[in-house]
This record gives sequence, C-alpha cells and structure tokens, in this order.
Amino acid sequence: MALAEGLLQAKVCNASDITITRRTATVLESLQEKGFATSSNNAEAIKDADAIFICVLPQQLDNALAQLKPVINLQKQLVVSVVTGAHTAVFKEKLGEEIRIVRAMPNTAMKVGASMTCLSAVNANEEDQQIVQSIFDTVGQCIWIAEDMMSAATALCACGIAFFLRTIRAASQGGVEIGFHAHDALKIAAQTAYGASKLLITNGTHPEEEIDKVTSPKGCTIAGLNEMEHQGLSSAFIKGIKLSSVMAGNLYRESNK
Ligand SMILES: NC(=O)c1ccc[n+]([C@@H]2O[C@H](COP(=O)([O-])OP(=O)(O)OC[C@H]3O[C@@H](n4cnc5c(N)ncnc54)[C@H](OP(=O)(O)O)[C@@H]3O)[C@@H](O)[C@H]2O)c1
Repeated sequence: MALAEGLLQAKVCNASDITITRRTATVLESLQEKGFATSSNNAEAIKDADAIFICVLPQQLDNALAQLKPVINLQKQLVVSVVTGAHTAVFKEKLGEEIRIVRAMPNTAMKVGASMTCLSAVNANEEDQQIVQSIFDTVGQCIWIAEDMMSAATALCACGIAFFLRTIRAASQGGVEIGFHAHDALKIAAQTAYGASKLLITNGTHPEEEIDKVTSPKGCTIAGLNEMEHQGLSSAFIKGIKLSSVMAGNLYRESNK
C-alpha cells in the first residue's frame, strides 16, 4: 500500500492503473474508495498487468504463486517480489525458468518517502531494472545488490527500522530518568536521531568523524559513549543484525517445513 501511495504522490500513474489484491473483502472496499482497482482474484487481477508485485508473507507465497501459475505470461510480465527469504529459485521452480524477476527489500519508512530499498535482479533486463528503480525511487532511496546479499539487506534495512526505533525509545527512556516528560523526551530523542542521520547523509561523513566533533576531552559525551560501549552497545547491535540476517535467509524454507 505504501508503495502504491508513493506512486500516486509522485504522479507516476493513476490509482486506477494499480490493481491491489487482498483476500479480505472489507479492506478491498476501503482501497476502492481511494480509487484503486481491487480484486480478491489474483489470476483475474494480473491479466493485463505489465508488472506483478508479490507482497505476501513467506508462508503465504506458495498459495499465491499457485494462483498465478496458470495465467502469468512470463514473456510479457515482470515479477517484483518483496517476500523475505524467498530466493528467485523458488519463483523459477513455481512459475517457470524464464521468469524476469526483481527482488526488493524496502522498509516501512516507505510511508514517509524515506525507505532504503535494496534491489536485486535475476533475468531482468536494463529496462525492467529502470522501471522498478523508478517505482521504488518514489518512496525513498534504492541500491542494487547481488541476490546473495538479500538476507543481509533484510536485516540491515527492513529489520533495521525496528533496531533504530528501539534505540530512540531507549534514549527517550533515559531522557525521562534525567527529568524530561515522556513526550518531550521522545521528541528530543527522535529529532536528535534524525539530525545524526542527516549529518551523515548530507556531509557524506563516517559516524566516527561526526562523533569526534562532539566528544570534548574529558567531556560528558565521551564518558556517556564509552559507558554504553562498556555495556555492549555496538556488540549488541552487531550480534542482533547477524542473527536477523541468518533468520531472514531461512524464513521461507522454515515456513514451509
Ligand atoms: N513490513 C516490513 O517492514 C517489510 C519490509 C520488507 C519486506 N517485507 C516482506 O513483505 C512481505 C509482506 O510483509 P507485510 O509486513 O506487509 O505483511 P502483511 O501485513 O501480513 O501483508 C501481507 C498481505 O498479503 C495479503 N495476502 C496474503 N495472501 C494473499 C493472496 N493469496 N492474495 C492476495 N493477498 C494476499 C494479506 O492480506 P489478506 O489476508 O487480506 O489477503 C496481507 O495484506 C513479507 O514477505 C515481508 O517479509 C516486509
């Protein structure tokens, strides 16, 4: 949905050019009110589509692919999958070897136009790749990666949103303990995190370079930072990202055991 709304905001197409399928009828009604074409019949919905976006959970994928298999035209139709852990080998096996497919790993910041989307193409030509990138460009930044980096991308980019949000929550909790009301603490923590991120993106600098600018000798910043490191801040982050990456790679396989 966030992607469809991004396309509308960027005026790439009209709502009626996008058909969204769901199995829940009530949700489809609200999508119709926004002008989207809707259907609960995947086979019917893809008939005239140039590109088919598959955005189901790993455990729902086999069922969705079985519905597409009899009608998909692999010569004409490009497939884009955001399904975590589903290698393109799965799509080749279930839909056909000649499939043109791009895997995409965005994050929920799509909703505010600030996603980091990792893309990887298999059998997709230059034009396919340009089209997919232009679509995801409407909701943030894109980077092309090799498919074997998709699980790593899931951890760093899709799960990453939750990791950074937890650090903002932790900072705001610290803020309350040192005297701020909760809403002020959260506002200060969130804007500070936004500022830190923007410094890196705008200046193209390494975090440590920006950290050096705030850490005065014998000062309070380095004292706080070093205490966090003694408590395992960086180590906890690295270990969490490694675990998420391993789990992301296994999600489709595990859900079909
Ligand atoms: N959330 C993230 O941050 C994120 C980021 C990157 C990638 N992903 C991946 O994106 C996929 C979707 O994640 P999500 O968080 O959006 O999950 P979700 O909220 O559970 O969405 C899955 C959607 O698929 C629909 N669906 C399931 N089977 C269907 C079928 N046969 N035909 C049509 N619609 C069907 C479901 O609606 P009905 O039940 O109404 O059919 C539901 O709206 C997952 O593979 C996830 O790993 C998620």
